[in-house]
Amino acid sequence: MLQSRYLLSGLGLSLMIATLPAHAAGLSSEHKAFGKTNDGTPVEQYILRNSHGLQATVITYGATLQSLKVPDKNGKAEDIVLGFDDVQGYQAGTAYFGATIGRYGNRLAGGAFKLDGKSYQVPKNDGPNSLHGGTQGFDKHVWKAQPSKGKDSVGVTLTYLSKDGEMGFPGNMKTEVTYSLTENNELRIEYKASTDKPTVLNLTNHSYFNLAGAGNGDVLQQLATLHASHYTPIDGTLIPTGELAPVAGTPMDFTHPTAIGKNIKADHPQLKFAEPKQGGFDFNWALDAKGDVSQLAADVSDPQSGRRLQLYTSEPGVQFYTSNFLDGTVKGKAGKVYSHWGAFTLETQHYPDSPNQANFPSTRLDPGKTYTQHTVFKFSAQ
Ligand code: GLA
Repeated sequence: MLQSRYLLSGLGLSLMIATLPAHAAGLSSEHKAFGKTNDGTPVEQYILRNSHGLQATVITYGATLQSLKVPDKNGKAEDIVLGFDDVQGYQAGTAYFGATIGRYGNRLAGGAFKLDGKSYQVPKNDGPNSLHGGTQGFDKHVWKAQPSKGKDSVGVTLTYLSKDGEMGFPGNMKTEVTYSLTENNELRIEYKASTDKPTVLNLTNHSYFNLAGAGNGDVLQQLATLHASHYTPIDGTLIPTGELAPVAGTPMDFTHPTAIGKNIKADHPQLKFAEPKQGGFDFNWALDAKGDVSQLAADVSDPQSGRRLQLYTSEPGVQFYTSNFLDGTVKGKAGKVYSHWGAFTLETQHYPDSPNQANFPSTRLDPGKTYTQHTVFKFSAQ
């Protein structure tokens, strides 16, 4: 259509571009080999680009966002997510850099839950609890992928079949994750899932952002706003107490732009639970938008580079985690070292341990129903 319109009308190219759908104007994608797992399974990478210099790379190992290049206020693009240059890094990694998390994101107390009177057990991999789906979650599998195209976006759709009984969860669960990049500088992540037996699920993306660039120091001076007047306090094993507590008057109050480092070392028992030595954030905030994807959920900016990230989500909660477990021993892309507090995550989710918490929104999925989740990361620079 582009060609025939152009030839027939004889209009100038700039006018043509303004009137064309965005994908024709400047969006492109390509895919190629990324490497092989230790057992020889090929892993592919999908590279999505827009005309404003944004570039997202997704690999089929863990349906992982491997890199995200975003221009700063001077137009200089830098990779702002932590990760590795090869599959082996991801296979050996324990920090879930950029991965799709499932079947149950965040923690299940004792790795256990009950459904219709029956007990299920997920392998424990976080002290007494299970974390991010157990010892081999969705992040440690190679997904199938195909390019996708929306009205105003380019993308990749990844699928994974989690078998009945895998990591203790009931039901064959078909999972689909679509990453798309738009000309409005949005990276959209859309999830779908269905099951043939009642099950529980909590899917999320575990990108670690540093708006100054991955491996360029810590994020303590970056300004975070979380549109959440409540959070779910935790016990010493990071399991929610079940309470929804007001953030007002606590270091968890990010209702106005606040430097991430401002209160990170505050003498508050919750911060000590999250990071016993120096303090840190690792909590689920209950978003005021309550799953309304059109409302701003979070907003983080870096005064130095001018980069800004705005978050929108259909999920009721977000885990804001300040990389408390990174200790400068992990070497990532281009040999850069990822320091303590070297990034933050915004894991959009249902609340942790929901299957064991009667007053939290349900994470149950029944046969015949489709689970959906929609999260948007929008970027700009000032
Ligand atoms: C989530 C958890 C953290 C930590 C990271 C992965 O953010 O809440 O406690 O386990 O994942 O390292």
